[in-house]
Amino acid sequence: MNVQSIRGTHDILPGSVELWQTIEQNARELFRLYGYAEIRTPVLEETELFARSIGVETDIVQKEMYTLEDSKGKSITLRPEGTAPVVRSYIEHNLYANSQVTKLFYLGPMFRHERPQKGRYRQFHQIGAEVLGSDNPAVEAEVLHMLDRFLRGLGLSDFRLLVNSVGCQVCRPGYVALLREALRGRASELCAECQRRTETNPLRVLDCKTPECQPIINQLPSILDHLCQECRVHFDRFLEYLALQGIASETTPRLVRGLDYYLRTTFEIISDRLGPTQNALLGGGRYDGLSELIGGPPTKGFGFALGMERFVLLLSGRSELQAPYKAPAPELFLGYMGEPELQAALALAAGLRASGIFAYIDFEARSIKAQMRQANRMESKFTCVIGENELTTGAFHIKRMADGRQETVSKEEIVPYILKARETYGSAG
Ligand code: HAM
Repeated sequence: MNVQSIRGTHDILPGSVELWQTIEQNARELFRLYGYAEIRTPVLEETELFARSIGVETDIVQKEMYTLEDSKGKSITLRPEGTAPVVRSYIEHNLYANSQVTKLFYLGPMFRHERPQKGRYRQFHQIGAEVLGSDNPAVEAEVLHMLDRFLRGLGLSDFRLLVNSVGCQVCRPGYVALLREALRGRASELCAECQRRTETNPLRVLDCKTPECQPIINQLPSILDHLCQECRVHFDRFLEYLALQGIASETTPRLVRGLDYYLRTTFEIISDRLGPTQNALLGGGRYDGLSELIGGPPTKGFGFALGMERFVLLLSGRSELQAPYKAPAPELFLGYMGEPELQAALALAAGLRASGIFAYIDFEARSIKAQMRQANRMESKFTCVIGENELTTGAFHIKRMADGRQETVSKEEIVPYILKARETYGSAG
C-alpha cells in the first residue's frame, strides 16, 4: 500500500503555491499600513487554553480537537484557532506594557477534526489579526475597512458582510434564558442536536442548518431586541462607523459564532460561491474578557480569521488545491560538451545568478541534443552551448529560443545581454 496524505489534509504544490504567496504578501503589506505586526505562536498549546477560551460546550472543544498526552501526561492540543494562542502570548510576554493598543496578525495552519468536504479540511490555514486593548467600535470598523480593501485588492467583490451583536454578561443571560424557554416549548420539533443544545448552549441553535429547525428558529426572539443600553449604543456606533467608511453590511440577528469567547460585535464575510453550508470566508468579533479567562489582566479584544483554502477557492475558481506541476522556465539554459565545459558552465551560472538571472544546467542529460530537448521542454528563453571552441576563443553563441536567432558575445557580455533582453520578455522566470 502506498503511503498517502492524511484525510482532510492537502499538499500545496508549485503552480498553486504562487497564489498563496500573493495573498500572504498582500496581507503583510496592507496590514502594516494599519499598524499590525506579525506574531508566530506554536502549533501546540496546553489543552486547557482552548477549553477555557473557546468554551467546553462548543463543537470545537467537544469533538474537533487533536489532543494528545505528552510523555509527562500533560494534555496538549494542535491549535484549532489562533486567537487564544495570541492572547496567551500577549499575556506571557507582557505585550500590553508597550502601548495601550497592540495590533498583531498571524498566518499559519490550524487543525480541526471535522468531516472533510469542499472548503472544509482537518488541517487548514488562516490569516488572522487581533487588536488588543481597545473597546472602541471605531477599531472594529477599521478592521472591516482593512478586510474590505484586502478582499477587493485581490479581485474579490461578490461577498457579503453579516454583522450582529451577541450582547454581554449583563444582557445575554436574560436572552439565553428566554431562548431556552422558547425552545423547550417546541423541543419535540427540533433536531436531536438542537434538543441537546437547548440545555447546553441555546445560542448555537440559531446557527443550525437542519431544515426541520428553520421554521422554529425564524420565530425565536431576536437578541437585538434584548441588548442592554451599553451594548445597544456600542452596536449602533459600530454600524455608524461602517456606514461612514462606505462599507455595506447586513445586520443578521441569527449570526452566532461557534466560539464562546465572543461578546458584543460579531461578523462574518460570506460568499454564495462557497456553497450553502461552508459559506464563511472569514469570521470574527469582540472578545473582551478572554484574557481574564486564561489568567491575564483585563483586556479588550477584537479580531478576525480568514480561511485561506476558501479564499484560494474563490480567487482561482478551482475546487482542487493543486494545479499541474510545471518547472519554472529558465532565462538562460547552459549546455556543455564535456567535463571542462561543465566546469566553465558552473562558473558562468554562478555569475549569472549573482546578477539575479535564472540560469539552468541539466546535469542528467548526456548529449547536447538531449540537453537542448530539455531546454525546449522547460521553455527556456535563451540557450548557450559551451564547447571546446567557446573556451578557446571566448566567444559565446546565445540563441533566442522563440525564433532561433543567435548572437555571439564575449563572456563578460553575457549578463548585460540577458538583462537587456529581459526588457522584451519581462522579469525572470
Ligand atoms: P472561525 O469562524 O472558527 O473563527 O474560523 C475562521 C475561518 O476559518 C472560517 O470563516 C473559515 O473560512 C476558516 N475555517 C474554519 N474551519 C475550517 C476548516 N475546517 N476548513 C477550512 N477552513 C476553515 C476563528 O477561528 C476565530 N479565531 C476568528 C477570530 C479571530 N475571532 C476573533 N479573532
